Amino acid sequence: MMMADAVKLHSSGYADIFLKDGICTKKMSGSQLYPDYHKRFYNFIRRKDYYVKLLEIKDPFEYSMEYLDIYSTVDRYLHPDNPNFKNNIQENILDDILRVFNQVQIDCIEFSKTLWKSKTLPEGQYWVHEDVHLLNFVITKDRKVKLIDIDSFAIAESPIHFSYIDTFAVLTKMLQHAYDTKRLLET
Ligand SMILES: Nc1ncnc2c1ncn2[C@@H]1O[C@H](COP(=O)(O)OP(=O)(O)O)[C@@H](O)[C@H]1O
Ligand SMILES: [Mg+2]
Repeated sequence: MMMADAVKLHSSGYADIFLKDGICTKKMSGSQLYPDYHKRFYNFIRRKDYYVKLLEIKDPFEYSMEYLDIYSTVDRYLHPDNPNFKNNIQENILDDILRVFNQVQIDCIEFSKTLWKSKTLPEGQYWVHEDVHLLNFVITKDRKVKLIDIDSFAIAESPIHFSYIDTFAVLTKMLQHAYDTKRLLET
């Protein structure tokens, strides 16, 4: 595909993300989509508005998705050094951040069970997001919490990926500070 009019939104050693005609395209070099990804993922995110919507998979290295008008990553949104921190924590989406973070793991376990039942995945194997960190959770300008980096779902032997461990610790610490500060500001 010609990318002449496309705007590059992001570039890392592993992936480039382009915006063109209101649609985002992610081209990966360091990883590739899990086989059968498309069908599985469609089933997985059906009716769940807290995942970025997948539009089309061109090949294992390239897919398109809806463009999100991103206000901030959760990491930055909750960071006490952020000049907007005090405003952010009073926007009443702290509960949503916690809910979406936990929901992703619940969704993965429930989806794994569905795959077991339909015998499309051997029991004891799990559908899991393997890059859970606070840069992959974003807040849109209309203040919805969304998981991006959806190419990081994979099949694994355990429902717990090591990336949850530190991220859960960091998130709960940040949220606790946010809730405490919010309460102080309100008194
Ligand atoms: N659907 C999207 N809409 C708008 N910006 C996006 C979208 N997906 C990714 N981005 C931008 O690209 C950045 C990196 O995206 P991500 O998928 O996490 O890439 P990587 O695999 O390199 O971590 C995000 O922080 C965001 O700024
Ligand atoms: Mg990422």
